[in-house]
Amino acid sequence: MQGINFNLTEEQASVRDAARDFAQSELAHDAIDRDIHSHFPEKQVKMMGELGFLGMMVAPEYGGGGMDTISYVLAMEEIAKVDASAAVIMSVNNSLVCYGLEAYGSSEQKEQYLKPLATGQKLGCFCLSEPEAGSDATSQKTIAIDNGDYYLVNGTKNWITNGGSSNIALVIAQTHPEKAHKGINCLIIEKGTEGFIVGKKEDKMGIRSSDTHSLMFSDVKVAMENRIGEDGFGFKFAMSTLNGGRIGIAAQALGIASGAYERSVKYAKERKAFGVSISNHQAIQFKLADMRMRIEAARFLIYKAALEKDEGKSYVESAAMAKVYASEVAMWVTTQAVQIHGGYGYVREFEVERMMRDAKITEIYEGTSEIQRLIIAREILK
Ligand code: CAA
Repeated sequence: MQGINFNLTEEQASVRDAARDFAQSELAHDAIDRDIHSHFPEKQVKMMGELGFLGMMVAPEYGGGGMDTISYVLAMEEIAKVDASAAVIMSVNNSLVCYGLEAYGSSEQKEQYLKPLATGQKLGCFCLSEPEAGSDATSQKTIAIDNGDYYLVNGTKNWITNGGSSNIALVIAQTHPEKAHKGINCLIIEKGTEGFIVGKKEDKMGIRSSDTHSLMFSDVKVAMENRIGEDGFGFKFAMSTLNGGRIGIAAQALGIASGAYERSVKYAKERKAFGVSISNHQAIQFKLADMRMRIEAARFLIYKAALEKDEGKSYVESAAMAKVYASEVAMWVTTQAVQIHGGYGYVREFEVERMMRDAKITEIYEGTSEIQRLIIAREILK
């Protein structure tokens, strides 16, 4: 009889170890510097592609690693533990762009766009949010007029992760406004296409070394064959893709929380106050215990969602639960980590202040905590 198995397979453990080694050797030493200068980790992202971290779940025939979602979650956690910015660059390429293309793209689209994205030769971005369409994703103002031979795209997208550094954009746009969400399409648009303008880079509170831009489309002509799925499938495409994306962001949040927790344990053992190591004080012990409990609970929610995805079950609710819980744990744990570190926690060198700033975005992007609760409630009540 099969039961619940908490053990990782050998392959999953080796993926986790490879991600840990990469994060320690390539990301750790200048994560502080990249945060200060908002510097995109170009060299490291290239290496992530070469190591297979940018198309982890894509089938090998399209250049991916053919791995399961648990392996992806494990790698995300290790990378986010050290550098949450690198983790979100990786997450968007894997969960939103590659997944969306592999699940719903035509074989030509997979050949032309998925392969270079999965191998890391190219980087992708996912363009849904707009100045007036964040949580309310159906209110798309970007228009893709069907001209028979091509779509003519006009509009602005905001807060696009990988917006400046990506080569391929999946752009959600309204084609038939009278049909509301059923009139929306997703188009593949390559950087360099005439009228595709990269707008300003955002100066963010956290995840500062990921590049977040607005993107403008001014009379951009897009071939009909660059539409993903049937006419009007774009909103469903975005929603289905975001379900999986939320597992990636939950894993990013878990990594941020784990990173802050590990630093806190180390610091608590080293730092002395009132003649003893501060880990001897119950005030600190209680915090460490609470941090550990919440991280472990978040981990199980994330693994459950990942497992349901791999088993082909519906994971809308479990992904939303994992995302909202893990992101709130990340915010709570990083705040406690700063508190445990005292004055040192408030300065850059000890890194927990960056983690606290990085944690905040996990409660916002790919659906705010409020939207996740709405999704969970809808699943309960439907
Ligand atoms: N999975 C699959 N399908 C879904 C879905 C889901 N999670 N949520 C909705 N749908 C489907 C519905 O079944 C419905 O289909 P039918 O027409 O066949 O009935 C259709 O989509 C419309 O659904 P609703 O009527 O429920 O739509 P709504 O307008 O009430 O809004 C919402 C639903 C859940 C609030 C949705 O708008 C939403 O998820 N908003 C958040 C958007 C978001 O996550 N944005 C993140 C931007 S991307 C990003 O952050 C990436 C990055 O850079 C890191």
